[in-house]
Amino acid sequence: MTPIQKVIYKKDKQIKPVWLMRQAGRYLPEFREIRRINTNFIDLCLNKKKVKEITLQPLKRFNLDAAIIFSDILMVPYGLDQDVNFKKNYGPVLGELKLQNIHKVTYKDFTNKLNPIYGSLKTIKKDKLLKNKDLIGFVGGPWTILVYMLNKKSPKKNLNKLIKDKKLTSELLEIITDFLCVHIKNQVKSGASVIQIFDSWAGLVKNSDIERNIYNPTKKVINFIHSLKIPAICFPRNIDDYKEFVDTIKPDVVNIDYRVNPTKIVSNIKIPVQGGLDPKILLTNRKNIKSKVQRYLDIFQNHPYIFNLGHGVLPQTNPDMVEYLINTVKNFK
Ligand code: CP3
Repeated sequence: MTPIQKVIYKKDKQIKPVWLMRQAGRYLPEFREIRRINTNFIDLCLNKKKVKEITLQPLKRFNLDAAIIFSDILMVPYGLDQDVNFKKNYGPVLGELKLQNIHKVTYKDFTNKLNPIYGSLKTIKKDKLLKNKDLIGFVGGPWTILVYMLNKKSPKKNLNKLIKDKKLTSELLEIITDFLCVHIKNQVKSGASVIQIFDSWAGLVKNSDIERNIYNPTKKVINFIHSLKIPAICFPRNIDDYKEFVDTIKPDVVNIDYRVNPTKIVSNIKIPVQGGLDPKILLTNRKNIKSKVQRYLDIFQNHPYIFNLGHGVLPQTNPDMVEYLINTVKNFK
């Protein structure tokens, strides 16, 4: 069993595996060097050799328990024939959404277009750095993918205008959910031992819409992951009610964001928990990092817990501080 599977299936409270969202990324000089030369981000995500190299970069440096495939949640809109670009210092920019194009995409077309991702997973899985470690595959939550496909960039806050067409949004959510399942199945077949669902914009949904936009489509994805006998980690970032989410969706692990009180979470939520620490803590000093890490580990001492952050590692983070954080988790008694 892998470290994360031990936490989930054996409810092992002693081992506290550690990995970090965005553990491969711009805070690492060796990533920035590759990125400088590979200016097209989508092409980079489809470059098997480079994806393997980038995925393994943090494992070469740090004592991590898992690798997460270097890819992006927006590879799914790309697979669905919507243009996706990443503008420097701006973020993702998607092309016009053409429903007639999306309708023409078959599961086979989609799988062929994203095939290098699955090839990367297969070779990463075989690497000796992955021995006794998890290989995490991932997708965006159906809602978050819908937001990007309609809004064509990261949203600010007001999405009312965007989702007023209920017929269009429910049709799209259904298509997205189906293709997310295809992407998950392909990743699991290629060696992913766990799937994380990043619902980064879950916090933007009004309570009255949560059933339709989050719960129903996410439940379908979770049931599908469970049919493959693989655990699912959900990250409904900034959602108001993590307990209701867990009770409704029944993921294997829930990743919490840094705004929620971990003490409340530990008393309300029975399933394994992941993450929580504010990534900005990594921009401070060792003493502060140590005390904040210990706080989470103390709170979750008698709870199945996977150490991680409450969002991704920030680009301006010093890799020495990441190393210090991971060693602090590993040396915690
Ligand atoms: O975590 C990892 O190390 C695996 C790789 C990974 C990336 N994106 C690589 C990436 C993962 C898991 C993601 C998920 C992702 N992508 C999310 C969900 C998590 C979250 O951050 O909320 C979202 C919303 C996206 C969409 C996306 N991709 C945005 C908004 C941006 C630009 C801004 C940013 O956060 O960097 C990206 C680009 C991106 N994806 C980069 C990386 C390393 C930066 C690429 C670069 O400019 O060099």
